[in-house]
Amino acid sequence: MGARVPRWWAQRTPPEKRHFVARTGLIVLAVVVLVAVPAYLALRPAFLERFPDYETVYLTWHESTHAEVSCQRCHVDPGLVPQAWYGVRMLGEFYVALLPTSRQPDLLGVPTNEACDRCHTDLVTVSPSGDLRIPHRAHVEMLSMECVECHDYVVHEVNDAGTHTPTMESCLTCHDGEVAKSDCVACHIDKDPPDTHLSADWVFEHAVAVDDSCNSCHEWTERWCADCHAIRPDSHGEDCRAQHRFRVEERRNCEACHTGEFCIRCHGLVPSLNYDSALRRVR
Ligand code: HEC
Ligand code: HEC
Ligand code: HEC
Ligand code: HEC
Ligand code: HEC
Ligand code: HEC
Ligand code: HEC
Ligand code: HEC
Ligand code: HEC
Repeated sequence: MGARVPRWWAQRTPPEKRHFVARTGLIVLAVVVLVAVPAYLALRPAFLERFPDYETVYLTWHESTHAEVSCQRCHVDPGLVPQAWYGVRMLGEFYVALLPTSRQPDLLGVPTNEACDRCHTDLVTVSPSGDLRIPHRAHVEMLSMECVECHDYVVHEVNDAGTHTPTMESCLTCHDGEVAKSDCVACHIDKDPPDTHLSADWVFEHAVAVDDSCNSCHEWTERWCADCHAIRPDSHGEDCRAQHRFRVEERRNCEACHTGEFCIRCHGLVPSLNYDSALRRVR
């Protein structure tokens, strides 16, 4: 009996009971010190920051709208058993981390729909901006899609436009005009082509109509001018070599699609084009 106990306690309590209480107390203390506290620490997202592979994802998570949602809420199935098993494994990781090793644990799975559904049950059919139709149920329930197939940028990354929202490219893998509709207004409420486009001569006229307003519909592809201009136009018939001189005279702007080097290939120097930069055409 090393430890001192209060006199009243020693007098009133039989020795067996005193030992029992002391032993239980020690066990509880041991569980708290060796299990509960480490588990609490290991289950906090900050614990994962120490592992090189999780350093970046930790920081991006910390900045995200989901910074209040711990990693395992998304990355571990919501069931009691998988969550408890994750806790047990993290407890192990806590002790392994005390050793001088550089182990990288592999504990986080790809988030499942069940994980997201815990908080998001009321899914929209139109985006918050009001421009985009997105029938969630049709894709998730009927087509059995995973949330992360579209929402892969939601936490740790931004897309090319700098946002966490799904990209148009990710839709077009299916919405190619065959598997699913590809016309702009199938998805976009406000992108009906303007009346200018109805002109039979639009492909000819567009060149002078170009201004910043075109971007609101066309900037989804960075190279939309150049990509289309790489397609040989109808105006270049089989007799193109003989006829192109007349098209130059007809005030056509060859630079829209050709650089000077192209003409030099055959002409040795850039032919005099009499280019009018204000009209963006050749006189
Ligand atoms: C709101 C849900 C959510 C939370 C919370 C969350 N993630 Fe993620 N995480 C995702 C999604 C979605 C992906 C992308 C999955 C995909 O595209 O396959 C992802 C991807 C990852 C990846 C793979 C990244 C890659 O580049 O391959 C890792 C690792 C990861 N998360 C770790 C973490 C860690 C660590 C935390 C906590 C600090 C965390 N995540 C919190 C949803 C979440
Ligand atoms: C533990 C709850 C929880 C889980 C799990 C969760 N979210 Fe969220 N989610 C939220 C909260 C809270 C917000 C912020 C709502 C707000 O600010 O209006 C949010 C916002 C969003 C938004 C709106 C855009 C944004 O960044 O604010 C999207 C999209 C989203 N979550 C997708 C997902 C996906 C996909 C998953 C599964 C990988 C998921 N969430 C898992 C709670 C959760
Ligand atoms: C077919 C692609 C696709 C799938 C699959 C998908 N979403 Fe979305 N989701 C979108 C698009 C697109 C938006 C609108 C984003 C925007 O604001 O531009 C969106 C918006 C959201 C929002 C934000 C709504 C708001 O008011 O801010 C939440 C939350 C969300 N989705 C959750 C989910 C969850 C949970 C799943 C899985 C059950 C899921 N989504 C599956 C494409 C998808
Ligand atoms: C895995 C393939 C797939 C992906 C990816 C996908 N969809 Fe779909 N979507 C479909 C199919 C299939 C239909 C039903 C056939 C149809 O309407 O053409 C559909 C229907 C739709 C419809 C209803 C069209 C109508 O008028 O009936 C909208 C709107 C839509 N998707 C938007 C989106 C958006 C936005 C995205 C990207 C964020 C997306 N989809 C990604 C397969 C997909
Ligand atoms: C299958 C659905 C779908 C189809 C079809 C579609 N888009 Fe998109 N589009 C999207 C999604 C999703 C985004 C990303 C929305 C965001 O970032 O908020 C987007 C973004 C855009 C943007 C940039 C954001 C904005 O609203 O200004 C433009 C421009 C655009 N689309 C134009 C078009 C044009 C033009 C067509 C027809 C050739 C088209 N889209 C067809 C789904 C679609
Ligand atoms: C409100 C949306 C919107 C605006 C603004 C817009 N366009 Fe378009 N444009 C479209 C759509 C939709 C198409 C058809 C695309 C498709 O089906 O792939 C299109 C097609 C085109 C085409 C191809 C025509 C063809 O026959 O293949 C050209 C060239 C074009 N636009 C140029 C322009 C120019 C130049 C401007 C600016 C003055 C402009 N657009 C502004 C929506 C728009
Ligand atoms: C759908 C395909 C398409 C797109 C997109 C497109 N163009 Fe064109 N463009 C053409 C075709 C085809 C011609 C050739 C017309 C001809 O000479 O028969 C042309 C010709 C031109 C010309 C020369 C006109 C002339 O005098 O012959 C200019 C300048 C031009 N485009 C500018 C642009 C710009 C700037 C953009 C993007 C903002 C753009 N185009 C987008 C198809 C396109
Ligand atoms: C809309 C884009 C566009 C415009 C505008 C355009 N071209 Fe072309 N041109 C092409 C493409 C695409 C090719 C095929 C290039 C290749 O095969 O490398 C081509 C090929 C040619 C050729 C080679 C023909 C052959 O059979 O080998 C000549 C010559 C030519 N263009 C002259 C002109 C002249 C002169 C103008 C201006 C009056 C002009 N082009 C305007 C797109 C354009
Ligand atoms: C594939 C070879 C080839 C290319 C590329 C080519 N040309 Fe020509 N070009 C010719 C030939 C051959 C003639 C003579 C045709 C004739 O008179 O029958 C000619 C004649 C001309 C003429 C009239 C004679 C002159 O020298 O003034 C002009 C103008 C002209 N080309 C402009 C262009 C321009 C502008 C380009 C670049 C956009 C171009 N050519 C690219 C082969 C080419």
